[in-house]
Amino acid sequence: MDFKDQVKEASDIVRVIGEYVRLKKMGPSYKGLCPFHNEKTPSFNVHAAQQYFKCFGCGIGGDVFKFVQEIEHISFFEALKLLADRNGMQMPKRNEFVDPDAKARGSIEDMNGLAAQLFRNNLISTMGADARAYLTKRGLSWEMVEQFGLGLSDRNSGLLKLLQQQGYSNEQLETSGLISKRESDGRLFDKFRGRLMFPIHNESGKIIAFGGRALAEGDEPKYLNSPATPLYEKSSVLYNLNRAKNAARKFERMVLVEGYMDVIGVFAAGVEEVVASCGTALTAKQVRMMRRMASRIVVNFDPDPAGRNATEKSILIMLEEGVEVAVLELEDGLDPDEYVKKFGAEVYRNKLEQAGNYFYWLADRARGHFDMRTGEGKVKAFQFLLPSIQKIPEKIRRATVASDVAGYLGIEASLVLDEFKRAAVDRKEQVLQVPSRTVPHAEKLLLRLLAASTEVRQVMLPRLASMGAIGGFTTHSIFETMVHLHENQPDFNFHDLEARLDENDRGLMAELVFADEIGNEAVLMDQAEHFLKRLEEDAQRTRLSEVKARIKAAERAGNIDDAIRLTEEYTKLENLNRKGPASR
Ligand code: CTP
Ligand code: MN
Repeated sequence: MDFKDQVKEASDIVRVIGEYVRLKKMGPSYKGLCPFHNEKTPSFNVHAAQQYFKCFGCGIGGDVFKFVQEIEHISFFEALKLLADRNGMQMPKRNEFVDPDAKARGSIEDMNGLAAQLFRNNLISTMGADARAYLTKRGLSWEMVEQFGLGLSDRNSGLLKLLQQQGYSNEQLETSGLISKRESDGRLFDKFRGRLMFPIHNESGKIIAFGGRALAEGDEPKYLNSPATPLYEKSSVLYNLNRAKNAARKFERMVLVEGYMDVIGVFAAGVEEVVASCGTALTAKQVRMMRRMASRIVVNFDPDPAGRNATEKSILIMLEEGVEVAVLELEDGLDPDEYVKKFGAEVYRNKLEQAGNYFYWLADRARGHFDMRTGEGKVKAFQFLLPSIQKIPEKIRRATVASDVAGYLGIEASLVLDEFKRAAVDRKEQVLQVPSRTVPHAEKLLLRLLAASTEVRQVMLPRLASMGAIGGFTTHSIFETMVHLHENQPDFNFHDLEARLDENDRGLMAELVFADEIGNEAVLMDQAEHFLKRLEEDAQRTRLSEVKARIKAAERAGNIDDAIRLTEEYTKLENLNRKGPASR
C-alpha cells in the first residue's frame, strides 16, 4: 500500500466531511446540503463503505482527498499532508511540496507561523507594555489574548529581519503579504508596524492572514489587513470559523458580527459560535460556509447607519442561500463587544436567544423610512420588504410571512396578496439530471455486487472475462475497466474505478452505489453466483448456436473437414454444458 492509500485508510471520509458539512445518516449513506453549490434540499451523499462522496445536484464527487482539495482550495499534496497530519502520520520527504503553488502556500504558512510567534513575543516583552495596557483598558482577559493568539507588531521591521535570517527570498517575502516594498528604492519593510495583531485562521486552523489594529492615536487606517495572497482570499474567509464550528453545530446557530473585537467579546461571553467577515461585504460563499455548520444565522452588526445597511444587504444574500435569518440590534448604540462589557454575558446571551426573525427588523426599519399614517406610506413600506420576503424558498411559508408582516405594519391583507400575486414567481431548484440509460436490472445488480466486495470480484471477474459475455453488456465499458483494474490491482477501491470511468459511467456507478443497502458478504456471493450461472448458460447457448451455424455453412460450402472439426467441437461444448458451467 502506498502512502496515499495508508492515509486514505486512516481517514474516515464521513468524519472528515462531517467536519465541514452537516450530515444525516439515511439508508446506506449520509446526506447533507452540498457545500459546492447552492441547494435547499440535500443531494450531497457520502458513502462510508466506498469512502466516496457524490453530489447529484452539481455532479461533483470523489474520494476524501478530492473533497479536502475542493473545500480547502488546495492541491492534492496539501490535502494529503493535511489528512496525514490529522492522523499523526509523517509525510514521506520526497512528496513534500511537489507542485509550485503548494510550495508557495506552504512557505507563506510557515512565515505566518513565525510572524505570529514574533508578534506574541513582542506583546509579552517590555515593548508590549502599552499594548497590554490597551488590552486591559478594553477589558480583554489574558485568556482571550491567548485563545485568539493576539500579538504586537514592532516598528523596526523586526519581522523582515527574522524572515531574512530564516533564508526566505525577497520574492517569497513579497508574496507573503507581511512585507511591503517601497516604490522609490525597492526597500523592503514590515507591512504591520506598531499594531495589535489578530491572526486570521482558515477553517482547519492554519494562520492564513493577519488583521492589525492601530494602537497609537492618529494611526490610520484603524485596521490594516493582509492583502490577497496565494493563501488568503478575503471573500472566502470568516474570522473565527475554526473555533466557532463545533459550537455552531451543537447549537445549530451562528452569530455574525462586524469586527474582530466583537468576535472576541462575544466569544468571551460564552458564545463560541461567532464569526465576522473581516471588513468586507458578506459574500454568498461566506454564507455557504456558515450554512454548512448551522441553518440559522443571527446577524448582530453595529447599530449605526453603516451596520444597518450592511445588515439589509446581508439578509438578502443569506435568504438567497436558504438560511434562516434573525437580526439582533442592540440598544444604546452599542456594538456587541461594548454591550457585553457594559451589561454582562448573561444579558447578552438572552438578547441573542430572543433575536427576532429578520422581517420584524426590516419592518421596523420600514417604519422609520416611510410615513405609516398614510396609505401610500404603508404600501411603500411593504414594497420595501417584499424582495426579502420573496426570497423565502417555500411558497406556503412565504405567504405566511407576507401576511404576518402586513399585520405587523397594519396593512390590509388583501392588498398584500395582490402585491404578492403580481410579483410571485415560484423558485424551482435546478437539479442536474444524470442522463438515465436503460441498463438491464441484472447488469446493475452485478455492478453493485462487484463494486461492494473484493471477494465477489475475486471469484466473478475472471469468470466473466473468460465467458466473453461482457462485450454484449450495455455497461461493458464499466465491466472492462473493472476487469483491467482487477488484473493489475486486485484490491482496487471504488475511487480507483471511478477515476477511470467517463462522465456517463461515473454517474451510473454513483447512482448504483448510493442505491439501497445490499446484504452481507454471503448473500452477495449467493446473488452473484446465481446471476453468473444464468449468464454463463446464456453464453453457452449462444456459443452452441454459433457453432451450429458454422457447421451448416461449412456443409453448404462443401468443406467436409471443417464440418467434421466443428461437429466435434459442438459435441465437446454440449458435454460441457451438461456437466454444468460452474463445475469446470
Ligand atoms: N475594518 C477594516 N478596515 C478598517 C476598518 C474596519 O478591515 N479600516 C474591519 C475590521 O475587520 C473590523 C471591522 O471592520 O474589525 C469592524 O470595524 P469597526 O466596527 O470599526 O471596528 P471594531 O471591530 O469594532 O474595533 P474597535 O472596537 O477596536 O473599534
Ligand atoms: Mn467596536
